[in-house]
Amino acid sequence: MNGQEDAANQFIQQELNADQSNLILGEVYLVGGGPGDPELLTLRALRLMQQADVVLYDRLVSDAVMELVRRDAERVYVGKRRSEHAMEQENINQLLVDLAKQGKRVLRLKGGDPFIFGRGGEEIELLAQNNIPFQVVPGITAASGCAAYAGIPLTHRDYAQSVRFVTGHLKSDDPNVSWPELANPTQTLVFYMGLVGLQDICQTLIANGRAATTPVALIEKGTRPDQRVFVSDLTKIVDMICDQDVHAPTLFIVGEVVKLHSNLRWFNE
Ligand SMILES: C[S@@+](CC[C@H](N)C(=O)[O-])C[C@H]1O[C@@H](n2cnc3c(N)ncnc32)[C@H](O)[C@@H]1O
Repeated sequence: MNGQEDAANQFIQQELNADQSNLILGEVYLVGGGPGDPELLTLRALRLMQQADVVLYDRLVSDAVMELVRRDAERVYVGKRRSEHAMEQENINQLLVDLAKQGKRVLRLKGGDPFIFGRGGEEIELLAQNNIPFQVVPGITAASGCAAYAGIPLTHRDYAQSVRFVTGHLKSDDPNVSWPELANPTQTLVFYMGLVGLQDICQTLIANGRAATTPVALIEKGTRPDQRVFVSDLTKIVDMICDQDVHAPTLFIVGEVVKLHSNLRWFNE
C-alpha cells in the first residue's frame, strides 16, 4: 500500500467512525416507582435512577422516591391530574424518542407499575417503532402496596379466590364492563382512580347483586407516612368519608377480605 492509499483508507475509516457516532442512540428506562414508600423500589429501578441523564416523572411519584434520582439529572415534570395535563400523552411519547435520539439515557419514572393503568405500553410502542432501545422495570402497583400496608390480604382461602383490578373511570352503563361479574362475592375488587365515582361504583355494585353489607376500604396515600384507611361497607362508605377531606391518590378495595384489616393492621399503628 503506498502513502496515498494509506491516507485514503485512514480518511474512509474516520468517516465510518463519524457515521457510527451519529448513530449512537440513548436508551429509555420505563421504571415503576411504586406507591410511595421509597423502600419499595426494586434494586434495578434504583440502579437505573442513578445512571439516567434526564428523568420524566409523573404526579404519583413520591418526593421520597424523587430524592433517589441522580442529583444532576435533568428533571421534567409531565404529570396529569383529572383535567389538567402538564404534557399531552403524544408529546411525552415523542419526547422520549427525541431525547434518546440525542444519545441520552432517559428515565421514564411512573407511579406504581408502568403496565397497570399506567400507559406504559403506549409509551414504548413509539420507541419500538423508532428502534430505540428500552427496558421495562416493574414496580409495586398501588393494589399490592396499599393492601399490604393496610393489612388486607387481597386473596385468602376463606374469603376470596380471585382479585380483579378495575378502573374507577367506568360508568354504570358502560357496555365494556360486565357488572354482574363484579358481583361475585368470593372475588376481591380493587378500584383505581375511584374517588370521584365512589358513590356510583357502590350503588351499581349493589344494583348488580353484590351484598350491601360487603366490607370496603378506602386507602388514601397508601404506604406513605400520612396513609389513612377508612373501613365501612358498600352503603356507608360515602357518608363516612364525606367530612374527612380525603384527597387523591386513593384506592378502593371491595370484598370480605377487608374484614381482616382490624386484626392485621400494622402500619402507622
Ligand atoms: C393512573 S393510576 C396509576 C396506577 C399505577 N400505575 C400503579 O400501578 O399503581 C392512578 C391511581 O393509582 C392509585 N394509586 C396510586 N398510588 C397510590 C397510593 N399511594 N395510594 C392510593 N392509591 C394509589 C389511585 O387509585 C390513583 O388514582
